Amino acid sequence: MAVIPVITIDGPSAVGKGTAARLVAAELGFHLLDSGALYRLLALKTLRLGMPQVAANAAQIASLAEQLDIAFEADDGNTRVLLDGEDVSAEIRTEAVGARASEVAALADVRAALLDLQRGFRRAPGLVADGRDMGTVVFPDAQVKLFIDASAAVRARRRHKELSDKGKNVNIASLLREINERDDRDRNRKVAPLRPAADALLINTDELGIHQVKSQIIDHIRQCLPDQPLPGSTDC
Ligand code: DC
Repeated sequence: MAVIPVITIDGPSAVGKGTAARLVAAELGFHLLDSGALYRLLALKTLRLGMPQVAANAAQIASLAEQLDIAFEADDGNTRVLLDGEDVSAEIRTEAVGARASEVAALADVRAALLDLQRGFRRAPGLVADGRDMGTVVFPDAQVKLFIDASAAVRARRRHKELSDKGKNVNIASLLREINERDDRDRNRKVAPLRPAADALLINTDELGIHQVKSQIIDHIRQCLPDQPLPGSTDC
C-alpha cells in the first residue's frame, strides 16, 4: 500500500507556521492538522469544568484528552473548530486558553493520550501537520520536515501588527514578555520539548514574508518528493 505523505512544520509560537501550513496544505490539496488547536481545546474543556489547576489533575485531564468531542469544519477558506458540538473557534485563541494549553501540553500523560488522535489525521492524499513536536514525536517518519523560527522581537512585532489590524491595542513589551515565557516553557519542558528534528530543514523568517516562506517550503517539498504528483510539478 502506498505510504501517505506527511509534511511537518514545527516552530515556536507566533512564528507564522499556522498560516504557512494552511497555505501549503491548500496548494497541495492535503489535509491539515493544527495540533496546537487540540491542546487549546483540551485546555478550554478543563477551564469549563472549573479545574483550578493542572498538575494535580494530570490523570483526569489525560482521560478527558482520550474522550474529546471535537470537529474541524471547513468554512469558506477558514476552519471552524467545535468542542462538544459548539463553535469555539474564537474562544480557543484567547490568552487565558493559550496559557492553560501550555500547561496541559507539559503533561506526559496528556501528550501520550493525544498521539492516536493526531496520527488519525494522516489520510490520503497527504497531511500537513503544524505544531512543536510533529517531526520529532508524532510523525518521526514524515517524508518532509521543516522547522520555522524567528527572533522573539520579530514575532512580537508581527503579533502586535496582527492585533492592531484587528483594532486591539496591546503593549508590545508585554507581548514580547509572553512570547519569551511561552518559548521558555515549550523549549525546556521534560516531554517533547520544542526543538528541530535532526532531519528538518530550518527556515529563519526574520527577513521573509509569509509568501516567501510558503515558496521555500513548496520548493523543498518538490525536492524531497520528486515522485509525488504535486500541483504544477514538472515531474508529474
Ligand atoms: O501553537 P499554539 O499556540 O496554538 O499551541 C498552544 C500550546 O500548545 C502551546 O503552548 C504549545 C502547545 N503545543 C505543544 O506542546 N505541542 C504541539 N504539537 C502543539 C502545541
